[in-house]
Parts: sequence; C-alpha cells; structure tokens
Amino acid sequence: MTAPSPRFVQLHRSDDAAVRAELLAGLAEQPSRIAPKFLYDALGSRLFDAITELPEYYPTRTEAAIFAQHGADMAQHVPPQAVLIDLGAGSCAKAARLFDVMHTAAYVAVDISVDYLRESLQALQQRHPALPMLGLGLDFSATLALGGDVTDWLAAQQLHSQPHVVFYPGSSIGNFTPYEALALLRQAHAACAAGGPGGGLLIGVDRVKAANVLEPAYDDALGVTAAFNRNLLLNVNRWLQADFAPAQWDHVAFFDAARSRIEMHLQARSAQTVSWPGGHRTFAAGERVHTENSCKWEPQTFQQLLADAGFGPATHWTDERGWFSVFWAPVA
Ligand code: AVI
Repeated sequence: MTAPSPRFVQLHRSDDAAVRAELLAGLAEQPSRIAPKFLYDALGSRLFDAITELPEYYPTRTEAAIFAQHGADMAQHVPPQAVLIDLGAGSCAKAARLFDVMHTAAYVAVDISVDYLRESLQALQQRHPALPMLGLGLDFSATLALGGDVTDWLAAQQLHSQPHVVFYPGSSIGNFTPYEALALLRQAHAACAAGGPGGGLLIGVDRVKAANVLEPAYDDALGVTAAFNRNLLLNVNRWLQADFAPAQWDHVAFFDAARSRIEMHLQARSAQTVSWPGGHRTFAAGERVHTENSCKWEPQTFQQLLADAGFGPATHWTDERGWFSVFWAPVA
C-alpha cells in the first residue's frame, strides 16, 4: 500500500524587519536581553539535541522514562481516537510513541516552520499510512489559533468532533515566564475545547529540585550548553550583520530559588564594543546579556496554573526521584 502524503500548511510568516527591531530593542536594554528563540538556528538545534544526551541533562530521559513506565495508565485518562496536536513537534518522535497506546485518530504536528517538519512527517506517514497527518507552520508562542485550513482538513475527514489533545512535552513551558505560560495554557485550553468531549492537555514539566542537580544540567562538564549559549551570538551576528566575538563571552547559568528558575547569561570577558550597520553597544567587563530562563515548578503550583487556565482537576505522573512530572489536564 502506498502511504498518502501528509498535508502541510504554513500560517506563520516571519517579518525580518520586526525580528531585527526586537533584537536591537533587547540589546539596548540595561542589562541587555536576547530572546531564547535565537538559540535555535540550525547549529543551535543540533547542539540542543546533543544537550539531551548529556549525563547532567536529566529532563529528556526522565520524561521518556515516565512515559515508558506510566503510558498505559495515561491511556486510561487520555481519550482514544483523539486528534493529537503536538506543539514544537520537531522530529515528531515523542508523539509517535503515543500513537498505538492512545489509539490516535489524527496527528497535527505544529512547529514554527513546516520545513522543520517535512522530512520527519513524511517518514512517519510511511510507518503509519492510515493515520491522517498534517504539518502546521505556526508560531504558537504568539497564537495557538489553528486556523480554517486545519478545521477544514479535520471536517473533510469527519474528525472535527473527535476530542482534541494538545501534547506539549519536554518542559518547554519552563522557557516562558509564569505570566506568559498562563497565556499559552489558556490558548491550549481553547484548542482542546474546540474538539469533542474528553479532550485535554498532556504536558511535561520540570520540577524544583536542589541547585546541585539543576545547575550542572545547564552548565555541563563538556561545555555543550556553553557552546549552545554562545552560538546565539553567531545567530545574532547573521541577523544584524553584527560582530559579536563568541570567545569573548563566558557562559553563566545559575538557579534563582526565589524565582524558581535557571537563568542563562553571557558575560563579557573584557570591556568591548559590538557594532552593526547603523549602531553599536559598549559592554563593560563582567556585563551580562540575559539569554534564557528555565522555570521549575512545584506540582501544586503548576496544578493551580492549569486551573487558572480553565482546565479541570489535573493528574500527574512522576519518576522515583520526583524530578519531572507529566500532567494530564482535562477540559473542565
Ligand atoms: C527547550 N528547553 C526546555 C530547554 C530547557 O531545559 O529549558 C532549553 C535548554 N537550555 C539549556 N539547556 C537546555
């Protein structure tokens, strides 16, 4: 049997002038700030994949172990025959492991660009020829409105009244501030509520733990996370035609217990001036550029956030050490 081709829809259009304006505004702040999305150019995405293999970086393997151990129990909560909407799908590998156990009816893989999804989704379609698949290019950090193309596609396959399950693994929710996370979860709730009864959110969340576990996960012995952080400067150089010298910047990562988050910064090794056409910025020795937050949650606090976003009472599964949790939050 020849597998059908997945459908692809690109909703997000990048506006280069707006990206440059955002970068310049962040650099002008005191202290400077560059958004974590600039960590993920082609090399940055590869470095992140390498991070997930590091002994110190526990989240990826801990989450995988929770799914392996509790998948059957999760399937008692997650409705069968659901439309699985995978946020930040990338290689689609995590969602693909759920298809059989959850008896998924259709798969919508969301990433900022369908180009990131094309290869993985085509390969996945060969392995699951009967499962309708759609790749959606959408900046869901700005909006999670799936759009008319998706609704029409679901209606054409008579899947529009199946439950909608939003899947957001990897603790990427931690890269949003609590306020931004609430806004995203409210939109996730609306996406789940758009389907038939029984839908909800399946989400991976990294938990608060000792600084001597958290900090090495973001400052590993091989220096892969340092390279990941410094590579952001190469990406910024391309966007702005700037002349950041990555070797002149130290990687700094620490746990701020009061804010319950890991912060990543780049710290100037010496006084320096960075230039770009039409502007420059001078940095003093020791001055920092803030590049990422990774918020860690207590289960009760995250449960409250889910309730504030409109979800019903959530269930969660964890590992033996209580380091990571996977939550199921039904549409109320
Ligand atoms: C993608 N995100 C969940 C990672 C995290 O743990 O916050 C990004 C990362 N930053 C440094 N190491 C990994």
